[in-house]
Amino acid sequence: MVDLIRSKRAGREMTTDEIEWMIARYAAGEIPDYQMSAWAMAVYFQGMTTRETADLTMAMVHSGEEIDLSDILGVKVDKHSTGGVGDKVSLILVPLVASFGVPVAKMSGRGLGHTGGTLDKLESIPGFTVELDMAAFKEQVKTHGLAIIGQSEDLVKADKLLYALRDVTSTVDIIPLIASSIMSKKIASGSDAILLDVTVGDGAFMQTVEDARLLARTMVNLGNAVGRRTVAVITDMNQPLGEAIGNRNEIQESIQVLQGGGRKELQTFICELAQIMLDLAGVHKALDEIVSHLTNGAAYAKFIEMVRAQHGKPEWLTEPLEAEFIKTVSCSKAGVITKEAALGIGLVAMKLGAGRAVKSDVIDFEAGINLHKKVGDTVEVGDEIATLYSNKPITAELLAEFESFIEIGASSAPHKEILEIID
Ligand code: URA
Repeated sequence: MVDLIRSKRAGREMTTDEIEWMIARYAAGEIPDYQMSAWAMAVYFQGMTTRETADLTMAMVHSGEEIDLSDILGVKVDKHSTGGVGDKVSLILVPLVASFGVPVAKMSGRGLGHTGGTLDKLESIPGFTVELDMAAFKEQVKTHGLAIIGQSEDLVKADKLLYALRDVTSTVDIIPLIASSIMSKKIASGSDAILLDVTVGDGAFMQTVEDARLLARTMVNLGNAVGRRTVAVITDMNQPLGEAIGNRNEIQESIQVLQGGGRKELQTFICELAQIMLDLAGVHKALDEIVSHLTNGAAYAKFIEMVRAQHGKPEWLTEPLEAEFIKTVSCSKAGVITKEAALGIGLVAMKLGAGRAVKSDVIDFEAGINLHKKVGDTVEVGDEIATLYSNKPITAELLAEFESFIEIGASSAPHKEILEIID
């Protein structure tokens, strides 16, 4: 391992055998964390070639359980987002795609810091379980056409170890390591096709479109190279997605969209993503027809089917938020909203209790923020911009912090959710 670290530090390309040896030994606990972190730091400075990245990805796939979904009929399509604030896409997209008969077997993650996690949002539905064993997961997809569960413990063992190590050694933001980490999990999860939502901007991993494009291209190439049809969309994460940031409030907003309501641009965005996922499955639909599955109740019915199958209580879904402390923020000047900084707003939501500062924090499902105005909306003095919910007192400092992330000006450029599609 010392030779491999020295070699990578000098910028030499590793062989396939070397990469396979290193990942297998690391997953087996035979290479200590300090050597693996030295190697990751060498990659930060020297990078990895396309071939090395592909070898690393497949070595990681083979380090744990590989899920076989071949006994589920049809083209299985998966979806992954690199994370954001108010990102409730999976909650709407999965049932929408499944309502066209395309099976979606999805494993999701939890939230950390300013980014929320689909599992936490689903767990805000009383009774809902994300812990199905593999047999139950597959059975649900066969019977109902959709399931969203937590990642199985044994999936991509090497990534679990390496990602935790990168998190504490400042080696997360390395494109070949991010690409292999994400794609190894997607490939091991067994779907035939993958849609990647690569977010860019203030509240995202990738801060520039150039970096997002490079990450997206790397992942698309990795997926296609191993026979998984993969498409990436680069999407804007400079402001939170939609109106709700939290957990239970995001479920509520998702239900509005699933019932044909909600903000028009959120509806359009999700329908465009659904069109790409359906295309990947060989089911070609016009946008109008996809929208009709929101307005005619088909997508909502699929969502309820999933909630019931995973032991959630749908009758509870329309209950209002029950936070002890509720504060409304109003506009002090007229104009157009020009900025709602996603990172800052995500961190305020976390401080209200909606997210975790560290992995062991317990989430308050009732906490969160509902934005009543978004970038581009015209406002008058006194208009309500947002409501904050928490079960902890909401301090004047936190309110001031929240307000500092909102800017009002004379005009704003038209907002686009999907910036690029890479296939
Ligand atoms: N998400 C992952 O799963 N892995 C990374 O390395 C970064 C984001």
